[in-house]
Formats: sequence, C-alpha cells, structure tokens
Amino acid sequence: SQNATQAIRASFFDITHTVDDPRQLPEAARYIVDGLLLLNQGVIVGLSDWEEGQHRLTPEVDLLDCRGRLIVPGFIDTHIHYPQTEMIGAFGEQLLEWLNQYTFPVESQYHCPQHAARMSAFFLQQLLSNGTTTALVFGTVHPQSVDALFTAASALEMRLIAGKVMMDRNGPDALMETPEQSYQQTRELIERWHNKGRLSYALTPRFAPTSSPELLAKVQQLRHEFPDTWVHTHLSENPQEIAWVKALFPQHNGYLDVYHQYQLTGKRSLFAHCLHLDRHEWDCLHHTDSAVAFCPTSNLFLGSGLFDLKTCWHKGVKMGIGTDVGAGTTFNMLQTMGEAYKVGQLQRYTLSACEAFYHATLGGAKALDLDDRIGNFMPGKEADFVILDPAVSPLQQMRHANSRDIWEKLFVLMTLGDDRNIAATWVNGRCVWQREEKEQAA
Ligand code: GUN
Ligand code: ZN
Repeated sequence: SQNATQAIRASFFDITHTVDDPRQLPEAARYIVDGLLLLNQGVIVGLSDWEEGQHRLTPEVDLLDCRGRLIVPGFIDTHIHYPQTEMIGAFGEQLLEWLNQYTFPVESQYHCPQHAARMSAFFLQQLLSNGTTTALVFGTVHPQSVDALFTAASALEMRLIAGKVMMDRNGPDALMETPEQSYQQTRELIERWHNKGRLSYALTPRFAPTSSPELLAKVQQLRHEFPDTWVHTHLSENPQEIAWVKALFPQHNGYLDVYHQYQLTGKRSLFAHCLHLDRHEWDCLHHTDSAVAFCPTSNLFLGSGLFDLKTCWHKGVKMGIGTDVGAGTTFNMLQTMGEAYKVGQLQRYTLSACEAFYHATLGGAKALDLDDRIGNFMPGKEADFVILDPAVSPLQQMRHANSRDIWEKLFVLMTLGDDRNIAATWVNGRCVWQREEKEQAA
C-alpha cells in the first residue's frame, strides 16, 4: 500500500460497506476510540487503531493530534437548491404557492453572474461549515448560475454534482426557456464541466409541471448522448402537485410514469421527496435502480407529508438524505437527521443513529452512485471528512457525560447537535473549514 504523508489521531466512526437491510448496519459499523487515519495526496491510505498504526509514522508523516474529537465521513446532501439560500424560512405556504410567491422571484436574479458568484461562495461556505462535503445541487434556469457554482467548487476541490434547471412552462417569463435553448445550454455546460476534476453534471428538469413533453424529450436526448450524467428532479411531494401532473399528463399512468416514459429513471437518477408513491411507483424505482432523497425538514416545513422509510428499505430503493434548502430549514445534517428521526416516530419507525449516519454518508454516496469514491474511510477513497466536537454546550456536555456508548453519543449528536459541533471540515485531504476557537464561557 501507499506511504502516508499525513496522519490524524482521533476517534473515528464510519460504515464499512453498503447494506440492504437496516438490521445489518450495526455489524457494518466501525468505531475506533483511539484511531489513526493515514492520508496521501487527498486519498485515504488506511484507518487503524493507534496502537496498530503508529509504526507507520515515519518522520516524513505530518501528524495531527485530534484526541477528544470524533471524525466521521463528510456528510452527503443528496438534494439542495443553492439559489434558495437567500429565501430559507419563507412564511406560510405549501409547495405550489411557495414556489410562485418566494422561489421564482429569488431564482430570477441569477441571470446576473456577480450575484451568482457571490451566492455560490456563500452557499459552499454554508455546506462546509455544516460538515457537508458533497451535494447534488439545483441551480436556476440560467447557465450562469451553474458556471458560478462549479467555478467556486472547483477552487475548493469539492466533489459536487449540479445542473442548470430546465423549465419551459408554468413559471414566470423571467424563468422560461424553449426546449431547444434548454438543450443547447445544457449541452454546453456538460461539455464545460462534466467530469472536470471532482465535478459532475446532473440533467435537472425542475419537475413535471414545469416541463412540456418537448422539453422532456430534450432531456431524454441529452441522457442518451451523455449516458454518464445524472438526472435530478422532484417527484410526488405534495397532493396538489400530484393532481396537477395527472391533469397535465393524462395519457400517463401517474407521476413517475411521466419521467419513466422519457427514460429518465435509472441508476444515476435521483428523485427528491417521493412522499405519496403507490406500490407500482416504488416497484418502478426499484427495477430501474433509481434513487430517492428524503428531505425531512422540507417535508415538515411545507407540510408536504411523511417519507416512508420502512417501505423504502422493503422495496430496495436507494435513499439519501437531503436538506432541500430553501424549503428545508437547515444546512446542517445533524439537525436533518434529528428531524428524520421525528418523521419516523410519527409512523412508528425507529430510526437509529447508526442508520441515520449511514444515510447521511455511505448510503447517500450509494444513492449518488459515488460509493466507490466517498462515504467512508476505506483505503482508496477520497479524503473528505468532518471533525466533530461532540459536546460544545453545557447541555451537550452534561448529556454526553450521561451517555453509555457510541450509539447514544451519536444519537445525542443528532438530536442536540448543530453547526457548533462541526470543528473542521476536510475536502480532498485538505482542511477547508475550521471553526474559530471561542473563549470558553466562564
Ligand atoms: N418542486 C419543484 N420545484 C421545487 C423546489 O424548488 N423546491 C421543492 N421543495 N419542490 C419543488
Ligand atoms: Zn427541492
């Protein structure tokens, strides 16, 4: 194996392999109280016990001592809208009114490259300061929005998947395009950015109601021409939305069938929300190897519904967690996991901390077809991780002192944790974000 150039001593937690039943998770989990992570040029060389690994520390290896901290794989946000950062927490509406009142006006500003650049930088800092190292991101209809985001992500060497929104009906004039423009601009963006370093492109039709049949045919053509791109859209979020899709596409057999008939299901397809699927739709997601994003804070905030985690496992559908900012109310994955637990509680599904961390790391990587590159500390994986400070407030300190084992510590992190627990974030073997040391309160 390769020689390490960097090493970190800390506690470590990860899930070593993907599973198809949550009961297999505790066995797949790895917790090392006093561990040593070895890195070389942005790649993980190995993770071991300190005792076992310390002989590999030659004088050339740069050792960082993080004892007292817990290091986990970087969080993976499988569904988020960067242009909606500035309208997070908008009052009073459910999906369709919320889009018209708040979302579309904000997105209309992204024709301006300076605005897009400013917001891209802000957005990526929000991700990193919350421990998120990879995301699948919606831009706006403007290609400038995606150029700005990829430019900023590329400087940070982040693994990011994004795309320009495609939409040609049922929105304001400022966000309308023709299917032909959408095709051309998307094509140019793919040629400019797809597979450049750690960046990848997602074909991003907003959702069926803003897509004409002609636009969907263009998305299908692009997917055929660029078969290794991703598809990223919304599915079955809100009852009014679903009724609208049925009215707009009467010849189709339900919402998912619209995407499926245009061959937009598949291994690299990710559908956000999926709250009101029927049995055939779940089966179709399984058979096509499509993935879904569970966005608990968004689903609760917009009153959209409760994601059915039990059926998702049972049907064998890949799933990741999404914040869905700005319908989601936080960038923070710990808080998002805490809300996912509550969504489970309302349906008598008990989401363990082990399962929640799986969805936020390796499970999300699998949903994005990136589990060969990110999601845990296996040798050869890209070195993206978060250094957690497990107890940053008097309440957290008291609660942690009263917790018995790693499961309870992780669970308390996801119920009480937030961005204060993110001590540092590493991307591609480099520390790209570090919390300022605050004076300890007296
Ligand atoms: N459906 C179509 N567009 C959107 C959006 O921007 N956010 C959410 N949550 N759902 C959508
Ligand atoms: Zn969304």
